[in-house]
Amino acid sequence: MTEPAVDVYLTEDDAAQSLRTDVHNGLTAQPKWLPPKWFYDARGSELFEEITRLPEYYPTNAEREVLATRAAEIARVTNAKSLVELGSGSSEKTRLLLDALRDHGTLGKFIPLDVSATALREAADQISTDYPGLVVHGVVGDFTRHLDRLPDGGTRLVAFLGGTIGNLEAGERADFLGAVRAALEPGEYLLLGADLVKDPSVLVRAYDDSQGVTADFNRNVLRVINRELGADFDVDAFQHVALWNAEQERIEMRLRAQRDMRITVGELDLDVEFGAGEELRTETSAKFRRETLTAELSAAGFELQEFWTDKAGRFALTLSQATD
Ligand code: AVJ
Repeated sequence: MTEPAVDVYLTEDDAAQSLRTDVHNGLTAQPKWLPPKWFYDARGSELFEEITRLPEYYPTNAEREVLATRAAEIARVTNAKSLVELGSGSSEKTRLLLDALRDHGTLGKFIPLDVSATALREAADQISTDYPGLVVHGVVGDFTRHLDRLPDGGTRLVAFLGGTIGNLEAGERADFLGAVRAALEPGEYLLLGADLVKDPSVLVRAYDDSQGVTADFNRNVLRVINRELGADFDVDAFQHVALWNAEQERIEMRLRAQRDMRITVGELDLDVEFGAGEELRTETSAKFRRETLTAELSAAGFELQEFWTDKAGRFALTLSQATD
């Protein structure tokens, strides 16, 4: 195989520094919060994989169903020569797209972008081996910061799957979609996966499963901070909370302190107090409606071409085109 090229815009030092900043800002804020990107060390990534196989966590299966049904149509509509994947974690779904574009005869290049150099190189090597003749050009970067560095490659199709767009707040989504649009030429495509508003009990169950895997995933952020920043969180003293915020139409995950605690974050020279019952917000996962999602895409300079859902109508896959 030809070794994949990899451009690095984000080093381990950058990541360590942003963890310090995020933890300092979040734990001194009122209410306390942390960004969800710090769940995903090796253990957290494994726990997330486990979540995707839980009976209650429907988004992964629902999105796979839509992709499997629509991949050939996506290839036909876009005639894409390059597939860009933001967050290269979902290799199984990527392959559905790569297969369809290859069979359609237009595929030349695959451009995975991920914050983790390890995950990126693994994905890049695996795809290179399995798709002989495909040029693989990886980018180690943050999809909220490095979209202006995307390699070119004929007509590009940018895929942002899994519903991760829901982790962004409305303003961040506008910035993100604007940056994707700015990185593209008119006529290029965005394939976006988004979870939909539905019965709150179904949503809450997806984020509070009976086996407690999501609870373990949620607490993992405290283990990451203990290890990376020398903190002394008693991980088991925090209760997993998943709730539906009806006003903002998003799931919120929190960790609730079971007693009064004083936490020391050694490497930040920081002491933080938690009162019994106090909550630390660890993730928001916004759920979408067709009209508002279409409006957000349009405001960013994308014209919606297709809005597909799984048969049960739980999860949407949108295909849109960058306008002039
Ligand atoms: C990877 C952000 C799409 O919000 O559903 C799963 C992460 N958190 N269970 C989501 C997650 C708790 C997931 N995303």
